[in-house]
Amino acid sequence: MQSVRFQEFGSPAEVLRVEEVEKPSAGAGQVLVKLRARPINPSDLLTVQGIYGSLPELPATPGLEGMGEVAELGEGVKHLRAGQRVIPLGVSGTWAEYVVAPAARLIPVPDPVSDQTAAQFVVNPLTAWLMTVEELAVQPGEWLLQTAAGSTLGRVVLQIAKQRGFKTINVVRRRQQAEELKTLGADEVICTDEEDIPERVREITGREGLQKAIEAVGGETGAAVVDALGRGGVMLVYGRLSGEPMPVDGGRMIFTSSTVRGFWLGEWMRAAPPERQQAVTGEMLRAMATQEIVPPVEAEYPLSEILAAVEHSERPGRSGKVLLVG
Ligand SMILES: NC(=O)c1ccc[n+]([C@@H]2O[C@H](COP(=O)([O-])OP(=O)(O)OC[C@H]3O[C@@H](n4cnc5c(N)ncnc54)[C@H](OP(=O)(O)O)[C@@H]3O)[C@@H](O)[C@H]2O)c1
Repeated sequence: MQSVRFQEFGSPAEVLRVEEVEKPSAGAGQVLVKLRARPINPSDLLTVQGIYGSLPELPATPGLEGMGEVAELGEGVKHLRAGQRVIPLGVSGTWAEYVVAPAARLIPVPDPVSDQTAAQFVVNPLTAWLMTVEELAVQPGEWLLQTAAGSTLGRVVLQIAKQRGFKTINVVRRRQQAEELKTLGADEVICTDEEDIPERVREITGREGLQKAIEAVGGETGAAVVDALGRGGVMLVYGRLSGEPMPVDGGRMIFTSSTVRGFWLGEWMRAAPPERQQAVTGEMLRAMATQEIVPPVEAEYPLSEILAAVEHSERPGRSGKVLLVG
């Protein structure tokens, strides 16, 4: 079978290759899944570069999520059938034609959920949901500020906001994105190339100040969001897209008693009890089946065109995810 592989950590354009490797088979309690689609996420590319929170042994196949169909049932697996569409939860190495997964980690895909949506079930929608609904518990009518609002995750946050009735302040780096995000339901958009984040946030939120924010850029943008927090405000840091550390003003944090803390889906998957994970994934699937949550897709490439696909996934100004299909 074909598999994208890397022998050493480094720039994806230099180290990723498509190789012919032996097709695995399902052991007892396992299922062989023929993958149909998987996204290229920033976490995949950080893993290839060797700068992610958990790293595989080398050589390795990237890919932390995807969807496919049951190709072979291992001994003792009775609750699934050949051809059934499934999402392997928490199984890595999905940038290959097949992957073996424990049967207990496979989520059946409901009919109304497309392959494209199911392929992106875990990383972005689940993180967007957990941060806004569980961690920050953003209430109807409350403001949530998000940076990198044009990202796939940011667009899912807009869908969750519509569903749950909270208001969003969306920070982007280019003015062109403002109108597009407004048509997707963004209440306010701040463009960092021409506006001051704390000043605009104070105009929007008034005396109450900003209470809740999710931040994925870092550097000056992240620090400006800390400056914009009101008394008792909380900012979750979940990405570092600029690669820059945040020059945070500690004084401002002291006198607003604000909190800045990290969120990592990988940690939630490790720590959350199985029944909690089932409840949240069930809620997400329901919202995907009713089309309330549909993560956007910009392009699809076959596995064999991995380098073109990675190049596309790194282009600024995309409107959705790049998927590897087939
Ligand atoms: N902590 C977690 O558990 C977790 C889970 C999922 C995702 N994430 C993180 O969430 C973030 C978004 O992921 P995604 O898959 O939704 O991303 P994506 O669809 O690939 O989009 C990337 C976005 O980042 C913006 N961006 C890139 N470099 C930037 C910079 N220097 N300054 C400002 N904006 C910049 C791009 O802006 P343009 O539109 O202007 O190009 C684009 O909107 C990533 O950092 C990812 O690692 C974290």
